Amino acid sequence: YRNVRVALLGAGSVGSQVARLLLEQADDLAGRAGAGLELVGIGVRDLDAKRDVDLPRELMTTDIESLILGADIVVELMGGIEPARSHVLKALGSGADVVTGNKALLASHGPELFEAAEQVGAQLYYEAAVAGAIPIIRPLRDSLAGDRIVRIMGIVNGTTNFILDRMDTDGDTLESALATATELGYAEADPTADIEGYDAAQKAAILASLAFHTTVPLSAVHREGITRVTHEQVVAARKAGYVVKILAICERLVDSDGAEGVSARVYPALVPLDHPLAAVHGAKNAVFVEAEAAGDLMFYGAGAGGVETASAVLGDLVSAARRHVIGGPGLAESTHANLRVLPIGDVTTRY
Ligand code: HSE
Repeated sequence: YRNVRVALLGAGSVGSQVARLLLEQADDLAGRAGAGLELVGIGVRDLDAKRDVDLPRELMTTDIESLILGADIVVELMGGIEPARSHVLKALGSGADVVTGNKALLASHGPELFEAAEQVGAQLYYEAAVAGAIPIIRPLRDSLAGDRIVRIMGIVNGTTNFILDRMDTDGDTLESALATATELGYAEADPTADIEGYDAAQKAAILASLAFHTTVPLSAVHREGITRVTHEQVVAARKAGYVVKILAICERLVDSDGAEGVSARVYPALVPLDHPLAAVHGAKNAVFVEAEAAGDLMFYGAGAGGVETASAVLGDLVSAARRHVIGGPGLAESTHANLRVLPIGDVTTRY
């Protein structure tokens, strides 16, 4: 294989898992990508910070600029706007493809980044930015590109879904459920982003922009968090046949003058107990999509967590690497695992 040089920026809960999997599963990933994914360096702010995973010291560097210039693909998992924005622009400017999980950056500077990528023919991948491990960006951008999306309703913040679920099932308070969510590694560094709906609003802006082929700025997303939701309200809602979920709703609307528009909003909503979204418990996320031709679709899975979100990042990395392989394997041949196909008699019929 020829190698594709991968620079990783950030070694937090997602970044450190991406580094671990890149190193541990290098052969598998190379087989699927048709190119070796060579981790050339991990850019960090503090070499000595405590990390979820022990990473090779010789790969770590604080010289992020040089790291970017020596890479074919830059994976940005630092979070926040600056310096992430400058690094991503520098990477795209140098012609590198970029994989990012940075929802705040995309929601506030998406058009600038897409423009920078387009100018040099680079690609920007961001499957990890919305709903963690759940494939939702590619389905909206590619699989559903021929359909007209009418509405998206998403449980896109694991922390608040976990908290509301605890309030409902265990009678927990917001504060104590939040402490647990933080311990489990779901919450943002500043959990206000979760509780007040900022995180979900960023994801709503990204989803609405994709679904409706337009730019929905973060400032246009109506946002309410969960701080005013009480245990009593959750109990009363259940008695009436509903569960309280904080939803990101993105909708195509026609106003009274017949003009078409888009609405994006985040708030605690009453979801009927028989709706598929009512069955989304704990820190899980789900995105319910209503499309004109396809009808209803639901995407469900882990919306937060380091290793779960790393799955989405690695998928983007394999996609990006495939673009670098000229005459490389197509999808049909890009397998090398040589696993035996079992005769039916060998399989225990557990399902
Ligand atoms: N704090 C976020 C959540 C992490 O709870 O969903 C994933 O974006």
